[in-house]
Amino acid sequence: MTSWSPDLLAGQVAVITGGASGLGRATALRLADAGAAGVVIADLESAPREGGEDTVSLLSQRGVAAEFVSCDVRSAGDMSRVIAAAEDLGGVGIAVPAAGVLRMENVLDVPEDDYAQMMDVNVKGTFLTAQAAARAMVDGGRSGAIVTISSVGGVLGSASMPTYNMSKGAVRMMTYSLAASLGPLGIRVNAVHPGVIETAMTTRDTDLAGEDASALPLRRMGTPDDVADAIVYLASPLASYVTGTSLFVDGGSHSTKPGRDFG
Ligand SMILES: NC(=O)c1ccc[n+]([C@@H]2O[C@H](COP(=O)([O-])OP(=O)(O)OC[C@H]3O[C@@H](n4cnc5c(N)ncnc54)[C@H](O)[C@@H]3O)[C@@H](O)[C@H]2O)c1
Repeated sequence: MTSWSPDLLAGQVAVITGGASGLGRATALRLADAGAAGVVIADLESAPREGGEDTVSLLSQRGVAAEFVSCDVRSAGDMSRVIAAAEDLGGVGIAVPAAGVLRMENVLDVPEDDYAQMMDVNVKGTFLTAQAAARAMVDGGRSGAIVTISSVGGVLGSASMPTYNMSKGAVRMMTYSLAASLGPLGIRVNAVHPGVIETAMTTRDTDLAGEDASALPLRRMGTPDDVADAIVYLASPLASYVTGTSLFVDGGSHSTKPGRDFG
């Protein structure tokens, strides 16, 4: 039986899309703290949207082999390049498709292009990342773990972000189907469902992070590290009998306030 230790993920190489910022960045650093040997940060830009030092520099300071690959998760060709970079570091064993976009909108006014972008980044991007990682794991004869990022908004509808909710619901169902397909090949696939977490997405793109935490059972807003710790667990051997599950990291919001937006 595996127990927690500082080298829980020793020898593992991870790919994290959206890893320059927010939840992806926090996950990269937590995977490093858990002993990961290599991390590929795949994003449009290397600079964190929230500012500060780029993720690859912070990983290198921790002694992790880290590489930034500029990519658009909507492109299968780009995702092949990302996975190839991970193969060069020893072979992908963990994939976290964390790239995502969010816009507040009224269903009557959603432009066709905005709808397409939301679906392409959040749904297709997650699928292409998982598919490319799974192919490499199978080709390399390795087991692996994929942790997708849905949302509380992936199980609850809302008036202010209908296409985001649709996209995150699709990520949830994708996770279940990939778990069924890839489990027999030794690849576990699970989803985390964060509530509102303070990142550029909730402070710059929207004002969601200003939400009142007093209504949450745990009476505080979540942090990127709260989500990253759940992802590390699901990616690790501690979760070796866990696949096709939804882990809510939301202070209890999904079970207490149906109908609220996002978190
Ligand atoms: N922050 C929250 O409250 C929250 C809650 C639930 C789910 N999520 C989900 O978590 C994930 C990460 O969000 P975050 O809060 O860290 O946001 P963020 O904006 O801080 O980070 C998202 C990252 O994705 C990258 N990205 C966007 N489009 C891309 C593309 N086409 N190709 C490659 N990279 C791209 C951005 O450059 C950015 O670095 C998203 O899927 C989001 O929907 C966030």
